[in-house]
Amino acid sequence: MLRGEKVLLRPLKRSDITNFLKWFNDPEVTQYLSMYLPMTEMAEEKWIEDAASRIQAGTHVGLIFEAIEGDSSKTIGTIGLHGINPKDHGASFGIAIGEKDYWGNGYGTEATRLILDYGFQQLNLHRIASSTLAFNERSIKLHKKVGFREEGRQREAFFRNNHFHDLVMFSILRNEWRGH
Ligand SMILES: CC(C)(COP(=O)(O)OP(=O)(O)OC[C@H]1O[C@@H](n2cnc3c(N)ncnc32)[C@H](O)[C@@H]1OP(=O)(O)O)[C@@H](O)C(=O)NCCC(=O)NCCS
Repeated sequence: MLRGEKVLLRPLKRSDITNFLKWFNDPEVTQYLSMYLPMTEMAEEKWIEDAASRIQAGTHVGLIFEAIEGDSSKTIGTIGLHGINPKDHGASFGIAIGEKDYWGNGYGTEATRLILDYGFQQLNLHRIASSTLAFNERSIKLHKKVGFREEGRQREAFFRNNHFHDLVMFSILRNEWRGH
């Protein structure tokens, strides 16, 4: 469990499937993500099973994040490091707040800082990569704020809402991270 002032990050549970089904079948959320097909309960169960195997193998950290509200907390999203590579000390970062009422309130920024700290301090990572669709202003601001640098763009790589959109590639190296 990783805890900040506003968020806590905890391991996945089978019961999180209910939230996943709600979040990842909401077009307002998925417009920003690479997934585009309806998410079935079977697909979510398989994803959780597969994630459990990757976590066991040490190539994946998948966490649920909760907004701290007094003595309790509300489950609002998911965050992770995947493709953890022990030779190159690299990984990729992903985040989604599925509860839209919680967008734009600093939860994503704090959760990202917590998982970057974990990646660099506990997993001994050297480089964490990420990417976001060019129209996702919130995500672009978040990446820059926590220290990611833009590496380039995959031009018109994603088709969404009848248009092709650029994919902005980011990375952060250990010596660029705040805890260095
Ligand atoms: C992208 C996401 C993780 C950001 O987390 P968040 O908690 O909403 O963002 P934060 O509140 O921490 O703030 C991020 C920045 O965006 C800004 N922002 C907030 N609302 C905004 C808006 N409507 N348009 C542009 N910028 C906005 C904030 O002001 C902040 O920047 P600042 O500190 O320089 O002012 C979250 O909105 C989300 O999960 N969205 C849906 C799925 C998604 O896009 N996932 C990321 C895929 S790469």
